[in-house]
Order: sequence, then C-alpha cells, then structure tokens
Amino acid sequence: MAVLPIEMLGSEVLRRRAVEVAEIDETLRILIADMFETMYDAEGIGLAGPQVGVSRRVIVVDLQREDSQPFALINPRLVESGRETDKAEEGCLSIPGVGAAVERPDRVVVEGLDTDGHPIRMEADGLLSRCLQHEIDHLDGVLFIDRISPLKRRMVLQKYKRAERAGGASSR
Ligand code: NI
Repeated sequence: MAVLPIEMLGSEVLRRRAVEVAEIDETLRILIADMFETMYDAEGIGLAGPQVGVSRRVIVVDLQREDSQPFALINPRLVESGRETDKAEEGCLSIPGVGAAVERPDRVVVEGLDTDGHPIRMEADGLLSRCLQHEIDHLDGVLFIDRISPLKRRMVLQKYKRAERAGGASSR
C-alpha cells in the first residue's frame, strides 16, 4: 500500500468526468487500498479517484465514528435526493486549509458496487449523506466551491491562495 499524491485545486483531472469502472480487478483493489491509506494519512473522511489522479468512478469513505465502517463504492450513483436541505461546513483534501457551509439535500439514496462487485444500496442522512454527495460530485468534476455563492467562493479562494503563498496549506 502507498500514500498517493493528492491532486490540488487547479489540476485538470479534478474537473473531468471520471469514467465508469468496467472491471473490478487487482489493479482496482490496489488503488482502493492506496486511496484508504492516502485518506487516513491526510485525515480526511472521504476521497474520490480523481483526487489521486485516477479518473475512474471509485470513492472511499470512513466517517471515523464508532458506529460507522469504512467502505469503498464503485460506480456510485445518486438515485434519490431528499426535498429538504441541510447546510453544513465542508472541506476538501484538494483545497486544504479552507472550508465553507454548503447546502445540499439532507438525505440521499446511493447505489453502486462493493469491491466484490456486489450491488449496494445505501440510504444516508446527516454527515454520510453529505460525504457521499461531495465524493460523487468529485466523479463529475464538481467541487464544493461550485456549490456556494460567487461572493463566498471568491472569499474562500482568496483565503486559499493566501495560505498557499504562505508556504503550503496544511491539510483539511
Ligand atoms: Ni473533496
């Protein structure tokens, strides 16, 4: 297993639509193991393929709670979104050091495959719902800063650039 370099804001792969995984093979399993290691190293709770430069539809999540378990999801799809919304602070390992409150549907239903190729259906609310939406966004080339107001986005980006100039933003 290896900690992979994380793609940062400005990297083209973060803006591309990732392609469906056609085959769950050893290469993909190694990628997933590396993504977990990379996510834990950066102290994140979710990571998507494009963030490690791999434009394929795979995510890993670990909310790091006693009642939660780490999981990988292949070709995840949002099949239902709640009508109600929630607003809460988000950050991203690809835009370290800054965060913003993002409004999203409060609950979602997500379908995909596990690492054995078995179909999974997850009904999620709260932090898990938010995390799944954030990571699936990554697979479509969307970042959380795209989901805040232009004014707020400018502020977040200014802060990010300042932190970057000041000698590398710390993670999260
Ligand atoms: Ni992110």
